[in-house]
Amino acid sequence: MPTQPDAPAQSEHSAQPDLSTTAGKIADLRARYQEAVVDAEVVARQKQHAKGKMTARERIELLVDPGTFVEFDEYVRHRTTAFGMDRSRPYGDSVVTGVGTIHGRTVAVYAQDFTTFGGSLGEVAGDKIIKIMEYALRGGMPIIGILDSGGARIQEGVVALGKYGEIFRLNTAASGVIPQISIIMGPAAGGAVYSPALTDFVVMVDKTSQMFVTGPDVIKTVTGEDVGMEELGGAYTHNTRSGVAHYLAEDEDDAIDYVRSMVGYLPDNNMAEIPVYENGFEWETTDADRTLNTVVPDSPNQPYDIHQVISHIVDGGDFLEVQPLFAPNIVIGLGRVEGRTVGIIANQPSQMAGTLNIEAGEKASRFVRFCDAFSIPILTLVDVPGYLPGTDQEWTGVIRRGAKLLYAYAEATVPLVTVILRKAYGGAYIVMGSKQLGADVNLAWPTAEIAVMGGQGAVNILYRGEIRKAEEAGEDVAAVRQRLANEYTYNVASPFLAAERGELDGIIEPAQTRVAVAKALRSLRGKRASLPPKKHGNIPL
Ligand code: HXC
Repeated sequence: MPTQPDAPAQSEHSAQPDLSTTAGKIADLRARYQEAVVDAEVVARQKQHAKGKMTARERIELLVDPGTFVEFDEYVRHRTTAFGMDRSRPYGDSVVTGVGTIHGRTVAVYAQDFTTFGGSLGEVAGDKIIKIMEYALRGGMPIIGILDSGGARIQEGVVALGKYGEIFRLNTAASGVIPQISIIMGPAAGGAVYSPALTDFVVMVDKTSQMFVTGPDVIKTVTGEDVGMEELGGAYTHNTRSGVAHYLAEDEDDAIDYVRSMVGYLPDNNMAEIPVYENGFEWETTDADRTLNTVVPDSPNQPYDIHQVISHIVDGGDFLEVQPLFAPNIVIGLGRVEGRTVGIIANQPSQMAGTLNIEAGEKASRFVRFCDAFSIPILTLVDVPGYLPGTDQEWTGVIRRGAKLLYAYAEATVPLVTVILRKAYGGAYIVMGSKQLGADVNLAWPTAEIAVMGGQGAVNILYRGEIRKAEEAGEDVAAVRQRLANEYTYNVASPFLAAERGELDGIIEPAQTRVAVAKALRSLRGKRASLPPKKHGNIPL
């Protein structure tokens, strides 16, 4: 494995090394390293710092544990002659690759160098990325790509396009085998965006990163739309509107901090154990646990913030939320219980009353599949009044796209623990990690309401006659309606009915949740489940 040679001695700086001697060969290596890495870095710093950005090597140094980065291929040079390219053949070409550690665990990294040919990807830059991806796959380690590039190298034509094709194929082969994370720290234009899109998580830096398939000029020419680069494909757009990105970093340091934290939760590969951290798990109910007894308001229409519940279940209240700005009616992210990673999927009653819509379904289903691929147990917290009604949802495919979440849960073989906090109505009850979809442990709080529909909706259908009679008798119809709805909720939606039938494994006080979840996950550590052999399923896309 290559390591860094010593800096050239003072006397070696100017002298031509004598290559017939060992000392001369070592001096030559030092001089070349000086040119390839040290001097190149000085120039790169000037260019990038002027734009408020770090260089590729600085980004990697910050990402990995100090002093652990080992660079590969720093002497690679392109072979293109077209367009006078042979006049400039910088060492390393437009990407820095290698391995280092994060929290002591090895990761593979590549970072595009915008200061060399705009970070564009030609034959040799593509080969460097392909080599490090293959290395990561062979060694079973996460791969992190830092993108800052003008895309396919225009001078290299189809050769550059072909390298992207190979990278996409490797991204796909690596999917579900090693964690893949992309950090966008500059432009990612054209088809090049599809490599990050194929990875598990995309982090974008606010104001300095953009992703788009066709840029503002092409859009203006073809459709006449006027749109700026930032609005079209900036970090805010992709975090809030398109759902392409999973975290909006305020700057490059924030992006790197987020990725370092994320790696701390992930296993090295799909055959590796999840990392286990020291934790002083408290097996008795604590005062902090007891605050959960007051989270659910008396009125079923009153919202509360699901983060309050999550932070009372995970170790130290630490929750790494994923895609917090997209489809906020569902919350997904990573936490630890008893020092071990758990993926959390939770309806958010404070956003759109926690209803499920297409975006929420797609956000959650990809996360369920990620957790399942990497053997991360899933905790589902349910408070969902149903699917969001409307023509917009129906016509944009809530049937096809909503089916993804069902599919994702139904094929998951990792431990599945579900806690129903309040509402669990209709199809949304089934999809949110119900027993019948394959959950292992299903618990509910006494505030749970499980039924085909909510009390008000049921009264409209079941008690039409009573309502009419009340109207004719001049009674207070609203009061009658509320009484019937309450009766329905108490008699039909009570969690004890579900518990009677074994659809729930237990009903717990909210204060017992943290310990109950830990016990459930502990009991499921040895879970072995499998699906019938097949090439692959056909998830509705
Ligand atoms: C070769 C490129 C390049 C490219 C930029 N450069 N993109 N060289 N191939 N794709 C070079 C520039 O010529 C310039 O060189 C240097 O990088 C910096 O570029 P600037 O334009 O000065 O930088 P900036 O103003 O910051 O603009 C950045 C940019 C712009 C928005 C990325 O360069 C740009 O639009 N580039 C082209 C983007 C593009 O359309 N790429 C192809 C996408 S299609 P000098 O020598 O002047 O410093 C694609 C297909 C993938 O990628 C297919 C996958 C299937």
